[in-house]
Parts: sequence; C-alpha cells; structure tokens
Amino acid sequence: MEDRFNTIAGWVLFSGIIALGLSSIFMRVFDTHRPEAMGYPVEVVGGEEGGDSGPDLGTLLAAASVENGAQQAAARCGTCHTFDQGGAQGQGPNLYATMGDTFAHVAGFGYSDALASKEGNWTWEAMDAWLLNPRQFAPGTSMGFAGLKNDEQRADILVYLNSLGSNLPLPEQKTAEEAAPEGEEGAEVAAEEADADEAAEAEATEDAAAEENEGGA
Ligand code: HEC
Repeated sequence: MEDRFNTIAGWVLFSGIIALGLSSIFMRVFDTHRPEAMGYPVEVVGGEEGGDSGPDLGTLLAAASVENGAQQAAARCGTCHTFDQGGAQGQGPNLYATMGDTFAHVAGFGYSDALASKEGNWTWEAMDAWLLNPRQFAPGTSMGFAGLKNDEQRADILVYLNSLGSNLPLPEQKTAEEAAPEGEEGAEVAAEEADADEAAEAEATEDAAAEENEGGA
C-alpha cells in the first residue's frame, strides 16, 4: 500500500512537472506570435481624396504606367469610347489623339454645349481635372461618368491617352525642388564632381599620350 502511494505520488509530481514545462513552452510560443501592435492597422491613402495633398501631377505622371492606363481605360471608359485611330464614335467621341487637341475635338460629334463652348486645349491639367470630376470641369456635360478619384489611376489613364498619337511632353515635377531646398548646394556639389571627373579624364588622356610617346621612342 505504501509502495503504491509513493508510485501514485510520483506520477502526480511527474505529470505536474510536465504540465508546468508544457505551459511554459505554450507561453513562449504564444508570446512570439503576439503581434507587435494590437488591433488592425488602418491605412490612410491620401490619393483617395483626389485633393491637393498628394504628389503633384508631374510626379504622378512620371511614375504612371501606360499599360495600366490602357486596362483602366478599357474597363472604365470602353463602354462609351473607342481609343484606336479612326475608331467609331459611341455614346462618347473617339479618343485617339485627344491630348493636346481642343476641347470637343471630334468634328461632327454631338457634344453638349457645356463642352463645345469651352475654350482651350486638353492639357495635362485640364484632362486631369476633367477625369477627376467631369461635371465640375464642364457643368452640364453629357458625359455620364462620375469621375475617378484615385490619383494614380487617373495619371495612368492620362499617359495612356497621351500615348495615342499625342506625345505631349510630361509636365515638370514640382515636389522634387520643393522637397530639396538645398537644391543649389546639390547642384554645386554635382558641378564640383563634374570638374573632378573632367580633371581625372584629362589626366588619363595625358597619361595615355605619355605612354604613346614612350612607345614611340
Ligand atoms: C457613360 C458613357 C461615358 C463614359 C463611361 C465615359 N465617357 Fe467620356 N464622354 C462621354 C460623352 C457623352 C462625352 C461628350 C461630353 C460632352 O459633350 O459634354 C465624353 C467626352 C469625353 C472627352 C472629351 C473628348 C473631346 O473630344 O473633347 C474625354 C477626353 C473623355 N470623354 C474621356 C473619358 C475617359 C478617359 C473615360 C474613362 C475614365 C470616360 N470618358 C468615360 C461619355 C462617357
């Protein structure tokens, strides 16, 4: 009886130790898998506002993708517009070579007065404003498109439109200068480096000339 009691006590003790060990392992595993920050991170996407807080148009366009623009345009505009040269007029006009041309650029298309009476050309800024909010750009327009708020997607569509027989030069990127007020210093350093490069090159050619002379002698 005594023996059996010891055995039982032993097992109880043993399993207690095992349980303790296991629980500390579990704690450790649980600990390492604990996320650094609790809760769900909320991403704030400035571009969604379509406001003036994001990068300027020049910067957006420099990073834009013609390919993605083609996809966006097919999906969002394709029900009303064709994009190929000589393409049919649909609910909206054919959009080949629109960038840089005058507003209401297709002769004979039944534009609204709102767009037909508007003076000016489809510049980068005009097209960006139009696609952001057609009704604000030309109040009374017949284009039944609410507007595209995503700055990047709009930029993609702009460079795509520009690739269709227009090829306007991209506008300047303003933020590059604004973000680096030491731009002049940077330019100086670059100039100095260029000088150094020139000097090194001059030396190199002198060396080469000297070698040639030696070879000749
Ligand atoms: C529901 C049909 C519809 C959709 C969708 C649509 N448009 Fe239009 N679009 C029109 C109509 C109609 C006009 C003519 C507007 C007017 O006369 O006021 C027009 C005019 C235009 C013009 C002016 C062309 C010119 O000759 O001056 C451009 C540029 C344009 N759309 C681009 C787009 C782009 C880019 C998209 C997609 C992001 C788009 N549209 C989506 C119907 C549409």
